[in-house]
Amino acid sequence: MPNDRASPHLVSTGAPLVAGWTAQKVADFGSVPLQFEHELQRHSLFSDEALARLIENAKREDYLVNTMDVTTHDLSSRQEGEIRDLSGEAVLQAVKNGHIWILLLRPQRSNALYLDLLHRIYAEFSSRVPGFKPYLVNMAILISSPRVQVYYHCDIPGQMLWQLRGTKRVYVYPNKMPFLDQASLERIALGEATEFGLPYQNSFDDHAVVYDLQPGQLLHWPINAPHRIVNADCVNVSFTTEHFTRSLRRRYYVNYANGVLRRQRGWSDLSQATTGPAYWAKLGVAAAYRLAGAEKKRQKISKVEFRVDPTAPNGVRPIAGYGFRPGSNLEVKQVQPGE
Ligand SMILES: [Fe+2]
Repeated sequence: MPNDRASPHLVSTGAPLVAGWTAQKVADFGSVPLQFEHELQRHSLFSDEALARLIENAKREDYLVNTMDVTTHDLSSRQEGEIRDLSGEAVLQAVKNGHIWILLLRPQRSNALYLDLLHRIYAEFSSRVPGFKPYLVNMAILISSPRVQVYYHCDIPGQMLWQLRGTKRVYVYPNKMPFLDQASLERIALGEATEFGLPYQNSFDDHAVVYDLQPGQLLHWPINAPHRIVNADCVNVSFTTEHFTRSLRRRYYVNYANGVLRRQRGWSDLSQATTGPAYWAKLGVAAAYRLAGAEKKRQKISKVEFRVDPTAPNGVRPIAGYGFRPGSNLEVKQVQPGE
Protein backbone atom coordinates (compact mmCIF):
# COMPACT_ATOMS: atom_id res chain seq x y z
CA MET A 1 0.00 0.00 0.00
CA PRO A 2 2.34 2.76 -1.17
CA ASN A 3 1.68 6.21 0.18
CA ASP A 4 4.73 8.10 -1.01
CA ARG A 5 2.97 11.45 -1.29
CA ALA A 6 2.28 11.66 2.43
CA SER A 7 2.03 15.22 3.64
CA PRO A 8 2.09 15.68 7.42
CA HIS A 9 1.20 19.35 7.16
CA LEU A 10 -1.92 19.10 5.06
CA VAL A 11 -4.34 19.53 7.93
CA SER A 12 -2.53 22.45 9.50
CA THR A 13 -2.43 24.57 6.34
CA GLY A 14 -5.88 25.99 6.99
CA ALA A 15 -6.96 25.20 3.42
CA PRO A 16 -10.45 23.72 3.04
CA LEU A 17 -10.51 19.94 3.42
CA VAL A 18 -13.55 19.36 1.22
CA ALA A 19 -14.19 20.50 -2.35
CA GLY A 20 -17.13 20.11 -4.68
CA TRP A 21 -19.71 22.25 -2.90
CA THR A 22 -22.61 23.71 -4.85
CA ALA A 23 -25.67 25.63 -3.67
CA GLN A 24 -27.73 22.54 -4.53
CA LYS A 25 -25.56 20.31 -2.33
CA VAL A 26 -25.91 22.73 0.57
CA ALA A 27 -29.70 22.63 0.13
CA ASP A 28 -29.74 18.83 -0.22
CA PHE A 29 -27.35 18.03 2.64
CA GLY A 30 -28.81 15.20 4.71
CA SER A 31 -31.71 14.57 2.29
CA VAL A 32 -30.01 12.71 -0.58
CA PRO A 33 -26.67 10.92 -1.04
CA LEU A 34 -23.95 13.44 -1.89
CA GLN A 35 -20.38 13.09 -3.13
CA PHE A 36 -17.54 15.52 -2.43
CA GLU A 37 -13.76 15.61 -3.00
CA HIS A 38 -10.87 15.74 -0.53
CA GLU A 39 -7.09 15.17 -0.46
CA LEU A 40 -6.68 13.32 2.83
CA GLN A 41 -5.35 10.25 1.02
CA ARG A 42 -2.04 12.16 1.01
CA HIS A 43 -1.97 12.65 4.77
CA SER A 44 0.66 10.86 6.87
CA LEU A 45 -2.00 10.00 9.49
CA PHE A 46 -3.16 7.36 7.00
CA SER A 47 0.21 6.02 5.80
CA ASP A 48 1.01 2.31 6.18
CA GLU A 49 3.38 3.25 8.99
CA ALA A 50 0.66 5.14 10.88
CA LEU A 51 -1.87 2.34 10.32
CA ALA A 52 0.60 -0.32 11.51
CA ARG A 53 1.21 1.58 14.77
CA LEU A 54 -2.52 2.09 15.34
CA ILE A 55 -3.10 -1.65 14.87
CA GLU A 56 -0.30 -2.61 17.25
CA ASN A 57 -1.49 -0.24 19.95
CA ALA A 58 -5.19 -1.07 19.64
CA LYS A 59 -6.75 -2.63 22.73
CA ARG A 60 -9.54 -5.17 22.27
CA GLU A 61 -12.22 -2.49 22.50
CA ASP A 62 -10.44 -0.37 19.89
CA TYR A 63 -11.02 -2.56 16.83
CA LEU A 64 -13.27 -5.03 15.05
CA VAL A 65 -12.07 -7.54 12.48
CA ASN A 66 -14.40 -9.53 10.22
CA THR A 67 -14.18 -12.11 7.48
CA MET A 68 -16.93 -13.20 5.08
CA ASP A 69 -17.67 -14.94 1.82
CA VAL A 70 -16.45 -12.45 -0.82
CA THR A 71 -18.29 -14.11 -3.71
CA THR A 72 -21.85 -13.49 -2.56
CA HIS A 73 -24.01 -11.56 -0.08
CA ASP A 74 -24.30 -14.17 2.66
CA LEU A 75 -24.73 -12.74 6.15
CA SER A 76 -24.32 -16.19 7.72
CA SER A 77 -20.72 -16.29 6.45
CA ARG A 78 -19.69 -13.17 8.38
CA GLN A 79 -17.47 -13.90 11.38
CA GLU A 80 -15.88 -11.76 14.08
CA GLY A 81 -12.19 -12.24 14.77
CA GLU A 82 -9.30 -11.06 16.91
CA ILE A 83 -5.73 -9.85 16.44
CA ARG A 84 -3.03 -11.18 18.75
CA ASP A 85 0.76 -11.11 18.86
CA LEU A 86 1.28 -9.69 15.37
CA SER A 87 3.18 -6.65 14.17
CA GLY A 88 1.13 -4.01 12.40
CA GLU A 89 3.00 -4.86 9.21
CA ALA A 90 2.03 -8.55 9.50
CA VAL A 91 -1.62 -7.57 9.93
CA LEU A 92 -1.45 -5.35 6.85
CA GLN A 93 0.08 -8.29 4.97
CA ALA A 94 -2.87 -10.44 6.06
CA VAL A 95 -5.22 -7.75 4.73
CA LYS A 96 -3.38 -7.63 1.41
CA ASN A 97 -3.56 -11.39 0.80
CA GLY A 98 -6.68 -12.28 2.77
CA HIS A 99 -10.41 -11.79 3.09
CA ILE A 100 -10.71 -9.53 6.10
CA TRP A 101 -11.71 -6.04 7.04
CA ILE A 102 -10.41 -4.23 10.10
CA LEU A 103 -12.20 -1.32 11.70
CA LEU A 104 -9.97 0.79 13.95
CA LEU A 105 -12.37 2.52 16.32
CA ARG A 106 -11.89 6.01 17.70
CA PRO A 107 -8.22 6.67 16.71
CA GLN A 108 -8.81 10.21 17.96
CA ARG A 109 -8.68 8.95 21.55
CA SER A 110 -5.10 7.72 21.29
CA ASN A 111 -3.70 10.44 19.02
CA ALA A 112 -4.74 14.09 19.22
CA LEU A 113 -3.87 14.62 15.55
CA TYR A 114 -6.89 12.52 14.52
CA LEU A 115 -9.02 14.52 16.94
CA ASP A 116 -7.76 17.74 15.38
CA LEU A 117 -8.65 16.42 11.94
CA LEU A 118 -12.09 15.26 13.10
CA HIS A 119 -12.87 18.64 14.60
CA ARG A 120 -11.66 20.45 11.51
CA ILE A 121 -13.85 18.28 9.28
CA TYR A 122 -16.99 19.03 11.25
CA ALA A 123 -16.15 22.70 11.70
CA GLU A 124 -15.93 22.93 7.93
CA PHE A 125 -19.26 21.17 7.30
CA SER A 126 -20.90 23.34 9.97
CA SER A 127 -19.63 26.48 8.28
CA ARG A 128 -20.92 25.30 4.90
CA VAL A 129 -24.38 24.00 5.86
CA PRO A 130 -26.67 26.45 7.69
CA GLY A 131 -28.12 24.87 10.82
CA PHE A 132 -25.82 21.82 10.77
CA LYS A 133 -24.54 21.66 14.36
CA PRO A 134 -22.99 18.27 15.14
CA TYR A 135 -22.08 18.05 18.81
CA LEU A 136 -21.10 14.39 19.16
CA VAL A 137 -18.61 13.13 16.59
CA ASN A 138 -16.52 10.04 16.05
CA MET A 139 -14.27 8.44 13.47
CA ALA A 140 -13.04 4.97 12.50
CA ILE A 141 -10.50 3.73 9.96
CA LEU A 142 -11.40 0.83 7.70
CA ILE A 143 -8.61 -1.32 6.20
CA SER A 144 -9.91 -4.08 3.96
CA SER A 145 -8.83 -6.84 1.61
CA PRO A 146 -9.41 -6.99 -2.13
CA ARG A 147 -13.02 -7.95 -3.02
CA VAL A 148 -14.30 -8.12 0.57
CA GLN A 149 -17.81 -6.90 1.22
CA VAL A 150 -19.51 -4.97 3.94
CA TYR A 151 -22.97 -6.48 3.73
CA TYR A 152 -26.24 -4.55 3.74
CA HIS A 153 -26.63 -2.56 6.96
CA CYS A 154 -27.53 0.80 8.43
CA ASP A 155 -25.76 2.96 10.98
CA ILE A 156 -27.41 4.82 13.82
CA PRO A 157 -25.47 8.13 13.67
CA GLY A 158 -25.04 10.42 10.66
CA GLN A 159 -22.24 9.09 8.46
CA MET A 160 -19.61 10.07 5.94
CA LEU A 161 -17.29 7.68 4.12
CA TRP A 162 -13.89 9.01 3.04
CA GLN A 163 -11.95 6.95 0.50
CA LEU A 164 -8.16 6.98 0.87
CA ARG A 165 -6.76 4.05 -1.14
CA GLY A 166 -8.22 1.49 -3.53
CA THR A 167 -11.67 1.54 -5.08
CA LYS A 168 -14.98 0.33 -3.71
CA ARG A 169 -18.49 0.11 -5.05
CA VAL A 170 -20.95 1.66 -2.62
CA TYR A 171 -24.69 1.04 -2.88
CA VAL A 172 -26.85 3.52 -0.96
CA TYR A 173 -30.57 2.69 -0.52
CA PRO A 174 -33.54 4.89 0.51
CA ASN A 175 -33.97 5.29 4.27
CA LYS A 176 -37.59 4.12 4.29
CA MET A 177 -39.61 0.89 4.10
CA PRO A 178 -38.99 -1.69 2.74
CA PHE A 179 -35.28 -0.87 2.51
CA LEU A 180 -35.10 0.32 6.11
CA ASP A 181 -37.29 -2.07 8.07
CA GLN A 182 -38.60 -0.15 11.05
CA ALA A 183 -38.71 -3.00 13.58
CA SER A 184 -35.16 -4.03 12.60
CA LEU A 185 -33.90 -0.47 12.99
CA GLU A 186 -35.39 -0.40 16.50
CA ARG A 187 -33.57 -3.60 17.48
CA ILE A 188 -30.32 -2.06 16.21
CA ALA A 189 -31.00 1.13 18.21
CA LEU A 190 -31.62 -1.02 21.31
CA GLY A 191 -28.31 -2.84 20.79
CA GLU A 192 -30.09 -6.18 20.40
CA ALA A 193 -28.97 -6.61 16.80
CA THR A 194 -25.83 -5.49 15.01
CA GLU A 195 -26.02 -2.96 12.21
CA PHE A 196 -26.37 -5.93 9.84
CA GLY A 197 -29.77 -6.90 11.26
CA LEU A 198 -31.72 -5.47 8.31
CA PRO A 199 -33.53 -7.71 5.80
CA TYR A 200 -32.00 -7.45 2.32
CA GLN A 201 -33.20 -8.58 -1.10
CA ASN A 202 -31.28 -8.40 -4.38
CA SER A 203 -34.19 -6.48 -5.90
CA PHE A 204 -33.38 -3.57 -3.56
CA ASP A 205 -30.37 -2.84 -5.79
CA ASP A 206 -32.69 -1.42 -8.47
CA HIS A 207 -33.41 1.42 -6.04
CA ALA A 208 -29.84 2.11 -4.94
CA VAL A 209 -27.61 5.02 -5.86
CA VAL A 210 -24.31 3.38 -6.85
CA TYR A 211 -20.85 4.95 -6.60
CA ASP A 212 -17.44 3.59 -7.59
CA LEU A 213 -15.62 5.47 -4.88
CA GLN A 214 -12.04 6.54 -5.67
CA PRO A 215 -9.28 7.91 -3.42
CA GLY A 216 -10.01 11.56 -2.77
CA GLN A 217 -13.79 11.14 -2.83
CA LEU A 218 -16.23 11.08 0.07
CA LEU A 219 -19.90 10.27 0.45
CA HIS A 220 -22.54 11.49 2.86
CA TRP A 221 -25.98 9.87 2.88
CA PRO A 222 -29.26 10.51 4.72
CA ILE A 223 -29.58 9.29 8.31
CA ASN A 224 -29.95 5.49 8.66
CA ALA A 225 -29.84 5.01 4.86
CA PRO A 226 -28.96 1.33 4.32
CA HIS A 227 -25.81 0.72 2.32
CA ARG A 228 -23.47 -2.06 1.31
CA ILE A 229 -19.96 -2.08 -0.06
CA VAL A 230 -17.99 -4.31 -2.44
CA ASN A 231 -14.25 -3.69 -2.74
CA ALA A 232 -12.59 -3.77 -6.14
CA ASP A 233 -9.71 -6.24 -6.52
CA CYS A 234 -7.33 -4.13 -4.44
CA VAL A 235 -6.62 -3.26 -0.81
CA ASN A 236 -8.88 -0.46 0.42
CA VAL A 237 -8.24 2.12 3.12
CA SER A 238 -11.08 4.44 4.09
CA PHE A 239 -12.32 6.21 7.15
CA THR A 240 -15.78 7.02 8.39
CA THR A 241 -16.88 10.02 10.37
CA GLU A 242 -20.03 9.85 12.49
CA HIS A 243 -22.08 12.60 14.03
CA PHE A 244 -25.18 13.44 15.98
CA THR A 245 -27.08 16.69 15.84
CA ARG A 246 -29.95 17.39 18.21
CA SER A 247 -32.52 16.27 15.65
CA LEU A 248 -30.57 13.08 14.84
CA ARG A 249 -30.33 12.31 18.53
CA ARG A 250 -34.10 12.68 18.88
CA ARG A 251 -34.55 10.26 16.01
CA TYR A 252 -32.35 7.75 17.82
CA TYR A 253 -34.38 8.11 21.03
CA VAL A 254 -37.65 7.62 19.18
CA ASN A 255 -36.42 4.45 17.48
CA TYR A 256 -35.15 3.18 20.83
CA ALA A 257 -38.43 3.91 22.60
CA ASN A 258 -40.51 2.52 19.73
CA GLY A 259 -38.55 -0.71 20.02
CA VAL A 260 -39.44 -0.95 23.72
CA LEU A 261 -43.13 -0.19 23.06
CA ARG A 262 -43.34 -2.66 20.19
CA ARG A 263 -42.12 -5.47 22.42
CA GLN A 264 -43.47 -4.56 25.86
CA ARG A 265 -46.92 -3.41 24.77
CA GLY A 266 -47.32 -5.03 21.37
CA TRP A 267 -47.74 -1.69 19.60
CA SER A 268 -47.02 -1.75 15.90
CA ASP A 269 -48.26 1.53 14.38
CA LEU A 270 -45.50 3.64 15.92
CA SER A 271 -44.94 7.26 14.94
CA GLN A 272 -41.41 8.54 14.35
CA ALA A 273 -42.38 12.08 15.32
CA THR A 274 -39.63 13.77 17.33
CA THR A 275 -41.75 16.58 18.80
CA GLY A 276 -44.87 16.90 20.94
CA PRO A 277 -46.18 15.16 24.08
CA ALA A 278 -45.97 11.66 22.56
CA TYR A 279 -42.26 12.14 21.95
CA TRP A 280 -41.62 13.19 25.54
CA ALA A 281 -43.71 10.30 26.86
CA LYS A 282 -41.62 7.92 24.79
CA LEU A 283 -38.44 9.34 26.25
CA GLY A 284 -39.75 8.37 29.67
CA VAL A 285 -40.42 4.83 28.46
CA ALA A 286 -36.90 4.57 27.05
CA ALA A 287 -35.25 5.93 30.19
CA ALA A 288 -37.23 3.56 32.44
CA TYR A 289 -36.27 0.61 30.26
CA ARG A 290 -32.61 1.50 30.44
CA LEU A 291 -32.68 2.24 34.17
CA ALA A 292 -34.28 -1.16 34.83
CA GLY A 293 -31.25 -2.78 33.24
CA ALA A 294 -33.42 -4.46 30.62
CA GLU A 295 -31.30 -3.11 27.79
CA LYS A 296 -28.11 -4.80 28.94
CA LYS A 297 -29.82 -8.16 29.46
CA ARG A 298 -31.00 -8.31 25.86
CA GLN A 299 -27.94 -6.88 24.13
CA LYS A 300 -26.49 -9.07 21.46
CA ILE A 301 -23.27 -10.92 22.18
CA SER A 302 -21.17 -11.91 19.18
CA LYS A 303 -18.78 -14.81 18.92
CA VAL A 304 -15.10 -14.45 18.07
CA GLU A 305 -14.30 -17.34 15.76
CA PHE A 306 -10.94 -16.61 14.12
CA ARG A 307 -7.54 -15.05 14.63
CA VAL A 308 -5.82 -12.95 11.96
CA ASP A 309 -2.88 -14.94 10.59
CA PRO A 310 -1.01 -13.84 7.45
CA THR A 311 0.13 -17.43 6.90
CA ALA A 312 -3.39 -18.96 7.01
CA PRO A 313 -5.77 -19.22 4.03
CA ASN A 314 -7.56 -15.87 3.57
CA GLY A 315 -5.55 -14.52 6.55
CA VAL A 316 -8.00 -16.32 8.83
CA ARG A 317 -7.13 -19.05 11.36
CA PRO A 318 -10.21 -20.60 13.02
CA ILE A 319 -10.16 -20.73 16.83
CA ALA A 320 -12.46 -22.10 19.53
CA GLY A 321 -15.22 -19.48 19.68
CA TYR A 322 -15.84 -17.22 22.65
CA GLY A 323 -18.41 -14.55 23.44
CA PHE A 324 -17.72 -10.90 22.75
CA ARG A 325 -19.83 -7.75 22.99
CA PRO A 326 -18.99 -5.69 19.88
CA GLY A 327 -17.98 -2.12 20.50
CA SER A 328 -19.02 -0.49 17.24
CA ASN A 329 -20.92 2.77 17.68
CA LEU A 330 -19.62 3.04 21.24
CA GLU A 331 -19.90 6.78 21.05
CA VAL A 332 -23.63 6.41 20.46
CA LYS A 333 -24.04 4.35 23.57
CA GLN A 334 -22.71 7.20 25.68
CA VAL A 335 -25.86 9.15 24.93
CA GLN A 336 -28.47 8.62 27.62
CA PRO A 337 -32.17 8.92 26.79
CA GLY A 338 -33.53 12.15 28.22
CA GLU A 339 -30.33 14.15 27.82
FE1 LIG B 1 -21.95 1.71 7.42
